[in-house]
Amino acid sequence: MLVSPRDILLPAFAQGRLVGAFNTGNLEMTRGIIRAAEQLQTPILLQIAEKRLPHSPLHLMAPMMVAAAQQASIPVAVQLDHGECPAIIEQAAQAGFTGLMFDGSHMPLHENIARTQAVRERYAELWLEGEVGVLGGSEGGPEAEALHTCSAQAEQYAAESGCDCLAVSIGNAHGLYQGIPKLNFAVLEEIRRRLPDMPLILHGGTGIPACDLQRAAALGICKVNIATASFAALRKAAAAAEGDYFAMSEAMVQAVCDSTLEILQSL
Ligand code: 13P
Repeated sequence: MLVSPRDILLPAFAQGRLVGAFNTGNLEMTRGIIRAAEQLQTPILLQIAEKRLPHSPLHLMAPMMVAAAQQASIPVAVQLDHGECPAIIEQAAQAGFTGLMFDGSHMPLHENIARTQAVRERYAELWLEGEVGVLGGSEGGPEAEALHTCSAQAEQYAAESGCDCLAVSIGNAHGLYQGIPKLNFAVLEEIRRRLPDMPLILHGGTGIPACDLQRAAALGICKVNIATASFAALRKAAAAAEGDYFAMSEAMVQAVCDSTLEILQSL
């Protein structure tokens, strides 16, 4: 069933629970993610990041993602992840995505706010995620330095941008962590203190220990984004596959399903 992220995230936020948001890049990943969520009868978000689109064009991916959500036996919200280009955001909205993320985290705050406001006004009915602070990993290009979210900036952004939820940078990073990630819970606590009613989002979920995820959930994080774990599971299954294409395809679906199950069970 295709739903708005609002329907999944607001109850989770109210109850201090975490929802998994899984990024996809092809048919096998999409099927594996949905298979796992159906097995556990757990609502999820299915996402695609703008930077993946050169390899996974949105005009092909979006109809598949929306159809997968519509036909799932559990609520699934479909969201554009790290959107920035107005034409891509428009394409996602036209295709029936129920959520948008506008990522202006690398921009000066006033520009991030103004650009988020413009998305808010144009797509008033869609759930909108914003971000303040820059993550480590590849978010702002390979050279990007992690920059923890400044709680005062988060407060201003939340008040002025019109976003429905806010992604924060607290030591989380996209890609694989070197060792165990060290989340800065003091930063998260301060953001939470200033913004008690704002659902908060944690990107870079692959590799964050379950105990840290639970601690983050108690401080207002209600969605954790996962990409690397699923892409790695798919790649490993493809490399190890024997037999014909159809056996390889099923191995990729099941590997992503297994990886997704493990993550969902730890939330
Ligand atoms: P990982 O690739 O670290 O799982 O992060 C995914 C993410 O945050 C997508 O927005």
